[in-house]
Amino acid sequence: MLGPMRVLVTGGAGYIGSVVVEELLLAGHEVTAYDDMSRGHRDVVVTPARLVEANLLDGDALGRTLGTHRIEGVVHMAAESLVGESVTMPARYYRTNVVGSLGLVDAMLHHGVRWIVFSSSAAVYGAPARQPIEESAPAAPTNPYGETKLAFERALGWYGAAYGIRSVALRYFNAAGATERNGERHDPETHLIPLALAAAAGLRDAVTVLGDDYPTPDGTCIRDYVHVSDLARAHVLALEALAAGRCEGTFNLGCGGTGSSVREVIEAARKVTGREIPVRMGSRRPGDPPRLVAATDHARRTFGWSPRVTRLDDIIESAWRWQRSRARRT
Ligand code: UFG
Repeated sequence: MLGPMRVLVTGGAGYIGSVVVEELLLAGHEVTAYDDMSRGHRDVVVTPARLVEANLLDGDALGRTLGTHRIEGVVHMAAESLVGESVTMPARYYRTNVVGSLGLVDAMLHHGVRWIVFSSSAAVYGAPARQPIEESAPAAPTNPYGETKLAFERALGWYGAAYGIRSVALRYFNAAGATERNGERHDPETHLIPLALAAAAGLRDAVTVLGDDYPTPDGTCIRDYVHVSDLARAHVLALEALAAGRCEGTFNLGCGGTGSSVREVIEAARKVTGREIPVRMGSRRPGDPPRLVAATDHARRTFGWSPRVTRLDDIIESAWRWQRSRARRT
């Protein structure tokens, strides 16, 4: 690899962003997190990373940050990321995820920053019949969130050809789990694992299964859960390979295999916590595809990434440990 790099992480005070900051520091890079705190938390950005509190749409602040800290590469994670909300508030999603992201690239070009690793999503695929999903599968998003992620991926391709920006887009499947420091802390929380663990801890009365009439073996949706540290490490490997001229393009990040159903996740959470998790049956959440499981060979072959924590129990266990230690601290 090349030497340590000065890296900007937009969205660096969010759930996945905070862990990307941890992994970049571990790999010896100098890190500046950039976050407007709309969903992030100040205390998750570990030292010696610095934190710039500003909005992605603030071109002056972006330019100043890139210039002052002599940034060489960007991991771009700042985004609006709730699928349901994107359907009712598309303007917000297009503004932040497309307009904001294009502004970032303009600022990068202005400051001669050429490398960007972009957080994209399995939401760009829509609901493909063929599983596991390869990167070559047709992109057919079913909501504005996925559309905006795809729009910026495509812009990066054209900007690369015309202006020399070098990019990697990482399509996350379901990020889950925690490090010792950082875990999932959304408000409102909409994700299955933290909701199931909150029910186990008695903080909620039950977890709701959102539909059990899907065309899957137990009728509930299947997802590909990937540990947040593995996801974060992929950004470091991709950025280093990008800077070394060894990789560009679009990559799935998941564990692959057969994925886990909602019922299997709840059962694993019961086993890991040793607690009751009352279940309520609910109706389908609009836009939820029945099955999303990644083909992961491309990332493995191109930049040598493979997930280390692959058992669902271990992923959930890390989230439970983090939730318990946080409950003791607060
Ligand atoms: N689910 C429940 N009950 C809940 C919450 C979720 O049954 O209370 C189900 C959902 O229907 C889904 C599965 O659990 O089948 C996982 O749901 P999450 O909300 O945890 O995650 P999603 O798969 O909906 O969303 C994730 C990311 C999105 C991304 C999407 C597709 O959070 O940003 O994957 O890539 F767009």
